[in-house]
Amino acid sequence: MEKKRFYITTPIYYPSDKLHIGHTYCTVATDTIARYKRLCGYDVMFLTGTDEHGQKIEEKAREAGITPQEYVDRIVTGKGGVLDLWKLMNISNDRFIRTTDDYHVAGIQRIFRKMYEKGDIYKGTYKGKYCTPCESFWTESQLVDGKCPDCGREVRDAEEEAYFFRLSKYAKPVQELLESGTFLEPASRVNEMINNFIKPGLEDLCVSRTSFKWGIPVDFDPGHVVYVWVDALFNYATALGYMNDRYDDFDKYWPVVHHIVGKEIVRFHSIIWPAMLMSVDLPMPQKVYGHGWLIIDGGKMSKSKGNVVDPYVLADKFGVDALRFFLLRTFPFGTDGNFSNELLISTINTDLANDLGNLVSRTTAMVEKYFGGKLIPEREAAEADGELLGLIRSTKERYAKQMDAFQLHVALEEVFKLIQRANKYIDENAPWVLAKDESKKPRLATVLYNLLEALRVSLIMLSPFMPDSCARAFAQIGAEGESTGWDKAGEYGVLPAEVAVHKGETLFPRVDAAKMLAELESHSAKKEAVPAFKPVLPDVSIDEFAKCDMRVCKVLACEAVPKSDKLLKFTLDDGSGKPRQILSGIHSFYEPETLVGKTVAAILNLPARKMMGQLSEGMLLSAVRELPDGKEELHLMILDDAVPAGAQLC
Ligand code: MSP
Repeated sequence: MEKKRFYITTPIYYPSDKLHIGHTYCTVATDTIARYKRLCGYDVMFLTGTDEHGQKIEEKAREAGITPQEYVDRIVTGKGGVLDLWKLMNISNDRFIRTTDDYHVAGIQRIFRKMYEKGDIYKGTYKGKYCTPCESFWTESQLVDGKCPDCGREVRDAEEEAYFFRLSKYAKPVQELLESGTFLEPASRVNEMINNFIKPGLEDLCVSRTSFKWGIPVDFDPGHVVYVWVDALFNYATALGYMNDRYDDFDKYWPVVHHIVGKEIVRFHSIIWPAMLMSVDLPMPQKVYGHGWLIIDGGKMSKSKGNVVDPYVLADKFGVDALRFFLLRTFPFGTDGNFSNELLISTINTDLANDLGNLVSRTTAMVEKYFGGKLIPEREAAEADGELLGLIRSTKERYAKQMDAFQLHVALEEVFKLIQRANKYIDENAPWVLAKDESKKPRLATVLYNLLEALRVSLIMLSPFMPDSCARAFAQIGAEGESTGWDKAGEYGVLPAEVAVHKGETLFPRVDAAKMLAELESHSAKKEAVPAFKPVLPDVSIDEFAKCDMRVCKVLACEAVPKSDKLLKFTLDDGSGKPRQILSGIHSFYEPETLVGKTVAAILNLPARKMMGQLSEGMLLSAVRELPDGKEELHLMILDDAVPAGAQLC
């Protein structure tokens, strides 16, 4: 019988810098789903790759004094680069696409032409704000205080000839698609897309640039390069052979494509991507799943903050499988998760060293000690075994339901219920007491056999998460071949009656938290930048100062402003009894949901002004410092919660 098929993709990574733990999270999650589907018997195609074009890469290469191709080669195929990281993390991708690959380039040119010939791409004029030193166009909402977000200099109004994609034409069918079922998940992201992007009106999208060169040339109009998102999104199709002769899997896998993407690129995948697919008459993907972000101290990971976590260091210190497990066990896949080394260590110690590791080592040690490594076939079951046996038989179904819904952390929770029950079963049955009485040997054999079976089914379900450790653990408990397969994950009595165990090395050693934290500290990428001390401004009189009305406010609500990368909209309790709305350009430093409930400070008597069509009645106070690379680091002023709303700052 032909196997069912499953096509799954990760976003393709910008090789503008080294990958960090956030990127690793997404790829490990996708790998785990791909492995799970293979375990279930699917014919899986798992694609990942790199998104190598664009102005940013061109600039980075220029700064490094090399060509853009040399630059991306270094980060993708060089030592310690993307390919090395995926190998280290045991990523089982079937294909790896680079958008600089010839077949992809040719495919994109054909796709662009197809949309042009259909009339969905037309030539127009791109109007925007232009920063001459950076040679970059920006939209109004990307500017920071009206200046270039990259270099902070003045920008001017400018125009360039460009091609546009008729995104507006597809607003209705895209909205219908979003509303029609389970195309986009988690479901909360559907309203976000419709309310923030579709309802305010979809504008046609600028899909070519002439202000830089590092991109795929529009073959019928040289001088234009294809917008990087058109180039990038179609990787999912070209990698299967769409519009090129390199591969021939398109018809086989396209109908079952599942995209796993981070939340900030859900918009591209659930609005622009379906619209372009409709334009070229391709069927819609089955699913786009937008996962949350790994954040640190409530804020984004970023190089300028120096809080980027290096997966190479963590894998070296804790082991690849422990790291993979931690990422998927700790953070619900659809929402943000606060990463910390402390959490990583406690998860490893609790779940892996204590619960799972101990269960393997205690069980195998007892089979060795009491039976010389090989169980006897005589058994004596007891009624009290029922609960454990019930879990051995039933966990698979609950686990599969969660895995199929990409609720990886809940699936793991199901497996750990079984593991914890098995540990309790050891204490309840006290094998060391049974072992003292020769007549209890058949009962002792049953207890140990039940534990081995609990382990066997648990390991099958854990194997997509920790493939190497599970393979080692299978060898230790004497499970091999069919007994380690999915078909046997919900059955009891699969191991042979005289199963032989081989107690091996400890699978997950306990981590000495204090020692490890000190070691990690020495590796920390956080380099204290020395801020330049700006000269103190000329004196103001106390009366002048007293004119500024600065108050303590409580954050009642906080959300991103539609169509803006930077702005957050705060609804504040300023003590007056009437909510106050303030807009603040701090989205690159904070996720809105982490600020709700916080006590902050604001100046209230600045003239109200409109930003992106929304009123801002004041300004939140923050501490800002300039880093040596010219970028700014910002910390919102967060006060003790005991301070009441409306209190004046003086
Ligand atoms: N090149 C685009 C994707 C094009 S797909 C057609 C891109 N690349 S990226 O390298 O910037 O990001 C790749 C993925 O990593 C995104 O899904 C992004 O959400 C994810 N992550 C980057 N930082 C992250 C965290 N801190 N936490 C979790 N995932 C994060 O976007």
